[in-house]
Amino acid sequence: MISNAAFVILASLVHNTFASPAARGANAPLCDVSSAVIETNGSTLPAPKFTPSFVGLGVGTQNYTCTSNGTYSNVGALAELFDISCLYGEPGFDELTSVTSLLWNAAPPALTPAEIISFGEKYDLSFVLGEHYFVVNPVTGSGLSPKWDFTSHAFAGNPNAYVVGSKVDDVPAVTGSSDIDWLYLTNLTGSLANEIYRIETRGGQPPSSCTPGSNNITVKYTSLYWFTGGEFS
Ligand SMILES: *[C@@H]1O[C@H](CO)[C@@H](O)[C@H](O)[C@H]1NC(C)=O
Ligand SMILES: *[C@@H]1O[C@H](CO)[C@@H](O)[C@H](O)[C@H]1NC(C)=O
Ligand SMILES: *[C@@H]1O[C@H](CO)[C@@H](O)[C@H](O)[C@H]1NC(C)=O
Ligand SMILES: *[C@@H]1O[C@H](CO)[C@@H](O)[C@H](O)[C@H]1NC(C)=O
Ligand SMILES: *[C@@H]1O[C@H](CO)[C@@H](O)[C@H](O)[C@H]1NC(C)=O
Repeated sequence: MISNAAFVILASLVHNTFASPAARGANAPLCDVSSAVIETNGSTLPAPKFTPSFVGLGVGTQNYTCTSNGTYSNVGALAELFDISCLYGEPGFDELTSVTSLLWNAAPPALTPAEIISFGEKYDLSFVLGEHYFVVNPVTGSGLSPKWDFTSHAFAGNPNAYVVGSKVDDVPAVTGSSDIDWLYLTNLTGSLANEIYRIETRGGQPPSSCTPGSNNITVKYTSLYWFTGGEFS
């Protein structure tokens, strides 16, 4: 299938760079990133207070609904997270989100985030960390909160390997206004991480206006997601 072929190309970007694919240890990324530097280049995001534990390449969509005043408002996201820990420090690491964004935007419409996720599940790909999606805020019971869920992949069988984040800081992308904001979040619930960074984003911004009553839209984006601390580091 065309969309599966596109997925394979997308995934191979991440995969074929593992010279000797590492076997994942229990509760660990493919490669140790504990001494990595999270480059929040040029932004005012706070420095991490904990040691980096995971770095994921997010490939997915941001969801928007058209509000009554004719502007789009974010209503969640869905993304697959690939383990790029072994690429840290390699040439090209800083270009991963832009290169992947070119491939993702060139992929046929039939290739949705849900299809990428189901492909990852079907073939149990070792370089999939998990998924990013939104859930009802588990503390207040209203509104949506972002969740990163590694329970089906990197930590299969461990129900605690997730984190629901609470946004602390939100700054415009250093790379330009067509890229969604860079974020710093801390753990609201879950013990996968203490801090989450969304940086080096590409794409994901909605059109500047819309017709009230029009359909919800999804906009493709890629991002680095860094995780620090957590019970598994
Ligand atoms: C449009 O509506 C949204 C949601 O109701 C609100 O967040 C936003 O501030 C409004 N924008 C303007 C320009 O009024
Ligand atoms: C976001 O859009 C995706 C389709 O790409 C959908 O599967 C998902 O449920 C949506 N999430 C929310 C919170 O609307
Ligand atoms: C951050 O800035 C340094 C120094 O300018 C540069 O070498 C590096 O590639 C940048 N990192 C990212 C992720 O853009
Ligand atoms: C955040 O994660 C850490 C590490 O697992 C844990 O000790 C802490 O209790 C968590 N905080 C919340 C609010 O769940
Ligand atoms: C758009 O998404 C919002 C939030 O998920 C939902 O409440 C609404 O019903 C959706 N609207 C349409 C037209 O699908």
